[in-house]
Amino acid sequence: MIFPEWTTANITLYIVLFIAALGAGPVIYFGQAMLGEDKLRSKGKIPARVGMTFLYSVPILALYISARDYVPNASPIQWTVLAVVALHFVKRVSESLFVHRYSKPSGLLPTFLVASLYSTAAFVIGWLNRAPIPAVDVGFILGILFFVIGIAGNFYHHKLLADLRKNSFDYFIPKGGWFEYVVCPHYLFEIITWLGFAMLSRHLAVWLILLFVIGYLTARGLRTLEWYRQNFSSFPKDRKAILPFIL
Ligand SMILES: NC(=O)c1ccc[n+]([C@@H]2O[C@H](COP(=O)([O-])OP(=O)(O)OC[C@H]3O[C@@H](n4cnc5c(N)ncnc54)[C@H](OP(=O)(O)O)[C@@H]3O)[C@@H](O)[C@H]2O)c1
Repeated sequence: MIFPEWTTANITLYIVLFIAALGAGPVIYFGQAMLGEDKLRSKGKIPARVGMTFLYSVPILALYISARDYVPNASPIQWTVLAVVALHFVKRVSESLFVHRYSKPSGLLPTFLVASLYSTAAFVIGWLNRAPIPAVDVGFILGILFFVIGIAGNFYHHKLLADLRKNSFDYFIPKGGWFEYVVCPHYLFEIITWLGFAMLSRHLAVWLILLFVIGYLTARGLRTLEWYRQNFSSFPKDRKAILPFIL
């Protein structure tokens, strides 16, 4: 793990990051209950494809800004870190444009909020990447492997969700792949992608971002499971939220 220099400014920054990482799960889980949102995505006025494309494009710009001064002389390790993060967001933009079949428009505030969160994460990874790990090691190779498994599994389950909507924009019980075990396998694979980023970057801040993503997506997964149980009387009782057989 690469630690920052423990100056007063950095200590303050990391305390804030640590609190945000630990707080994400409870805030999403209980906040969702207060908002009473319909299937986790609040209705708004922006066409969903436009909102989501914007939301996932801004982090690519943030990543570029964070790294543009060292990109001309970047080492293969630095290039790898930048490439996987950029690829992840390019994939999400492409899915937003060509795969997902959204049922309703997106809200302006959530779109800006999530765009800011993702952009901050991309910027932090790109910025810290000016001090990468000194050499490729087993953790780095595993990081690439996790990244590939993460985006492939995430895409596969997004496609299964989109295929449910061939004839109607209703909600159905998802089938196939790991949907047989959990309601949000796509979230699990997103977490695996971010685990890949953390193993490639190795900076403490990126591990804290991973913790944030785990809390955020686990809370959304648990809420999604509750939603399915409430809305489908025939919903399989043994299906979990995000981690097969466990959670
Ligand atoms: N890194 C993070 O912290 C983070 C956080 C959130 C999301 N994400 C990423 O964004 C991806 C999508 O997240 P999301 O929260 O939007 O996923 P989601 O709620 O599962 O929705 C994905 C798409 O599938 C549709 N859908 C969901 N359940 C369905 C069902 N039962 N029947 C028919 N269609 C259904 C949704 O429809 P609607 O249009 O009706 O919603 C939406 O178009 C995640 O897999 C992840 O990769 C990342």
